[in-house]
Amino acid sequence: MKFREEIDKRKTFAIISHPDAGKTTLTEKFLLFGGAIQVAGAVKNNKIKKTAASDFMEIEKQRGISVATSVMTFPYNDKIVNILDTPGHKDFAEDTYRTLTAVDSVILVIDCVKGVEAQTERLMEVCRMRDTPVIIFINKMDRPGRDPFDLLDELEEKLDIKVRPLSWPINMGKEFKGVYKLFDGTLNLFDAQNKSKVAENIVPISGLEDAKLEELVGEKDANDLRDDVELIDGVYEQFDKEEYLKGKVAPVFFGSALNNFGIKEMLDTFTEIAPTPQPVFTDKRKVIADEEKFSGFIFKIHANIDPNHRDRIAFLRIVSGKFQRNTFYKHVRLNKKLRFANPASFMAQSKEIVEEAYPGDVIGLYDTGNFKIGDTLTEGEDMMFKGIPSFSPEMFKEVVNRDPMKTKQLEKGLQQLTEEGVAQLFTKQPGNIKIIGTVGNLQFEVIQYRLLNEYGATADFKSLNYHLACWITTTDQAQLDQFVKVKGSDVGYDKDNNPVFLAPSAWMLEKARENYPKLEFHTTSEFKVKL
Ligand code: G4P
Repeated sequence: MKFREEIDKRKTFAIISHPDAGKTTLTEKFLLFGGAIQVAGAVKNNKIKKTAASDFMEIEKQRGISVATSVMTFPYNDKIVNILDTPGHKDFAEDTYRTLTAVDSVILVIDCVKGVEAQTERLMEVCRMRDTPVIIFINKMDRPGRDPFDLLDELEEKLDIKVRPLSWPINMGKEFKGVYKLFDGTLNLFDAQNKSKVAENIVPISGLEDAKLEELVGEKDANDLRDDVELIDGVYEQFDKEEYLKGKVAPVFFGSALNNFGIKEMLDTFTEIAPTPQPVFTDKRKVIADEEKFSGFIFKIHANIDPNHRDRIAFLRIVSGKFQRNTFYKHVRLNKKLRFANPASFMAQSKEIVEEAYPGDVIGLYDTGNFKIGDTLTEGEDMMFKGIPSFSPEMFKEVVNRDPMKTKQLEKGLQQLTEEGVAQLFTKQPGNIKIIGTVGNLQFEVIQYRLLNEYGATADFKSLNYHLACWITTTDQAQLDQFVKVKGSDVGYDKDNNPVFLAPSAWMLEKARENYPKLEFHTTSEFKVKL
């Protein structure tokens, strides 16, 4: 097959949601439709269970298992679909943000009872930064949820995106009858009895005035549907694929992942409209998928917590050209040639060695410590991919070294773990004070455990009351110097030595903005390049 055709077949995306909205269930149903798994339950078993929240070893074990589901590939409708898994656990949100830099589009799952939740907003902010095209799936329609129009209003308001329903629910909860497909005027009737069925019960009707509608859903629901559709056509513009591809409008589907309902129509639409592998910017230029020469970047590193197997897996997203096994590529940051004997692709639960891979694909590279997040591989060109931002952590703790004899090991451990993306590290002077920033408490446990077990270093953490970390930029070096002089105790440096204001409160940040008008404070590190 021609190179261009291989690229056009690839649809690489992530399913995102607030925990419990149904991401795992939906992922699994996609795999069932794609024929990648035969029985339900395969993905679920890999999920980080809520009950294990305080038991991080258990979580790490489960994360270990979930390497296999980091990427799930299956063919569907002549396309090759790559689903990149994102951890549902809130404490691993940073992992999810990074994964979003390696996809070309997302499907956002919303619980129809709960609507837009905190984590949904945060995830969508990341998508908005990159104008990632979004399809929305409103799930759990078999439960008595909120009014669909209210939900759509809330989506537009809180997620700052226009929406366009492509299917419409007929009643909900116990009375849920199915959906009317606005794009082709057919009915998809709901049958709660058959959860594992792949075929859907599609009934063509000749327009909403067709008397069959009453027969099928009852008079009241038929009339409500007619009113709703009239309102939809009045309020929402026709769906425009170009606007979707620009990330400006999100098509919305309703269904029930658990009941396998409403999924096929979304998957069919997804494979038809979702973007093929998109261009990615480097510090030098934009790289386009069908360039002949291979390039790609590392967006995730998975360490093996078992001390007997110290290898790690670095996940590479291919941006351009064809990746080939056993071929030398340039590791740009290290200016070093590397080749990979066992690059792996992941299929639901199995892993296999790949000979070649194409733009849009994600492969796992066994790593002995060469990679950190954001690293670029090329056929020789000197360029680094942009767009692996760090986001301001929400929790900050100072590292307290409990064993001065192991200071070197501690420093090395902290550096490597933070390069892997477990947490962020800020260094404060004088005194070389190390501050770890995370989005959840769990990472502190993970770091403490791994420092001891992998590096032999003993560390404790002292809580710090910082509100946010803000990266500082300016064209006025004198003002920055002045700021550092005055606020020195609240200024740290990130892994690349960029100055960061560790703001003690929202008010102090506001004051800093007022008093130092020539400084800009950013809550992500990726402020220089708009992708
Ligand atoms: P997540 O990955 O987004 O965290 O969500 P997950 O798929 O695990 O779903 C969370 C819970 O919601 C699960 O129940 C799941 O069965 C349920 N669920 C998913 N889709 C639907 C749906 O369409 N309708 C209804 N009624 N429930 C749905 P659980 O009790 O937490 O887990 P389990 O015991 O069922 O495994």
